[in-house]
Amino acid sequence: MLQGANKPFHDYVHVSDGTVDRVIFSDQAVYDMEMERIFARAWNFMCHESQIPKVGDFFLTFIGEESVIATRDKKGELQVLLNSCRHRGNAVCRAESGNARSFLCTYHGWTFGLDGKLIGVPGYKDFYHEQLNKEEWGLIPAGKVQSYKGFVFATMDPEAPDLEDYLGPVGRLGLDLVAERGDEVVVEGIQKSQIGCNWKLAVDNLFDWYHVGISHASAMMTGFGRGRNLPPTIAERTGPGTSDPHAHRVLLGDYGHAIGGPRITPELRAMMAAAGDDPDVTLDERWRDKPAAKAALGAAGADVRGHPNIFPNLWIASNGTQLSLRLPKGPTTTEIWWFTIVDKNLTEEQRRARVFRANHTFGPAGMLEQDDGENWDQSTRQTHGVVARRFPLHFGMNLGHGAPQSIDGGPTFIDAAINEHGQFWTYRAWADWMDAENWAALKRDHVRTPLTPA
Ligand code: FES
Ligand code: FE
Repeated sequence: MLQGANKPFHDYVHVSDGTVDRVIFSDQAVYDMEMERIFARAWNFMCHESQIPKVGDFFLTFIGEESVIATRDKKGELQVLLNSCRHRGNAVCRAESGNARSFLCTYHGWTFGLDGKLIGVPGYKDFYHEQLNKEEWGLIPAGKVQSYKGFVFATMDPEAPDLEDYLGPVGRLGLDLVAERGDEVVVEGIQKSQIGCNWKLAVDNLFDWYHVGISHASAMMTGFGRGRNLPPTIAERTGPGTSDPHAHRVLLGDYGHAIGGPRITPELRAMMAAAGDDPDVTLDERWRDKPAAKAALGAAGADVRGHPNIFPNLWIASNGTQLSLRLPKGPTTTEIWWFTIVDKNLTEEQRRARVFRANHTFGPAGMLEQDDGENWDQSTRQTHGVVARRFPLHFGMNLGHGAPQSIDGGPTFIDAAINEHGQFWTYRAWADWMDAENWAALKRDHVRTPLTPA
């Protein structure tokens, strides 16, 4: 039961004191509305083009809780199709990825082309008397499918703005922070696991550098990233993953995109320069000096080391080796997917080292996410109680501290100590999405990024 369905969703997010009501983290009716007003409307990350390079390649993923097939049709065009036969609704694709000439429904045998068109119906002549209009019974296509620098997104809502407009400068920067590193490709095999938490708490955590020293204290003590004789990363050189807690940079974008975390300070830059041929530094940080990368990142992005989130649920890990989807599976369950990214020009040894480090950082076998998952599970449980729900959660750290600024008309950012600006911005945007009845209302009414020119 939705406690307060009759009030605007903005009433759950309290700007005056930086608090958020707990009800939004486990209520079924809130969750159902999120499926409709956020996931069925937003641009959702599907896959990287390197995962479906050839005609007939496909990758199965989700928009909200709905299974969709991302594929490349006979013309080489990207397609995203609802994985549900139009006859009785059966899934027409069961494999997580692969290559197909068409999608054959295993129930009665309707067959759909790579573009979703219905191309085969058993008994079409004898039982349907050729009166079934196949043109009308193809798979349901996404409203729009577009890609930005190889990252494929789809929206089910044809009224959505084009992808680049949706991403805006902050969303684009988030993707540039991976795309500009080199010839990036996604490694085969997506790591998937479920955690008993609300999807928003898993998103919220990616901006959270406050928890690192506590939640991950034991992981840091083990020196977990240093297997296989790897040298320490910049993060490991400079402390428990946080660098200087007083030198953080947050970027806030329209529709809820944000980037938050440590900033590359002049001291850190000098340390990176002095690292010489350290392969990790070469792999992880030198790319920033390439002219194309410099141009893409701009003045505000050049020093960003924090994690971007493309609203609603795509986390781009700031080390550039991993992407994560926080896929909702009910109000209190989230499926976490991890994609590992490498430069295709790496030597085999470098590639293995990069995959090894990724596998041992985030994901079900990583040292960090197990710590996090336990906390998110407990946080979610404590949003059920009738008493607990009377008391909101606090997102006010450093609220009001750190002025928004912009360099030469670039994206808005705030330089401050560790803070919760990224998290709270995301919840404000969440309320915008939930209160808006359609894209026209969302475009008109959403909270604008501070300093955005009128
Ligand atoms: Fe697909 Fe009948 S459900 S052919
Ligand atoms: Fe963590």
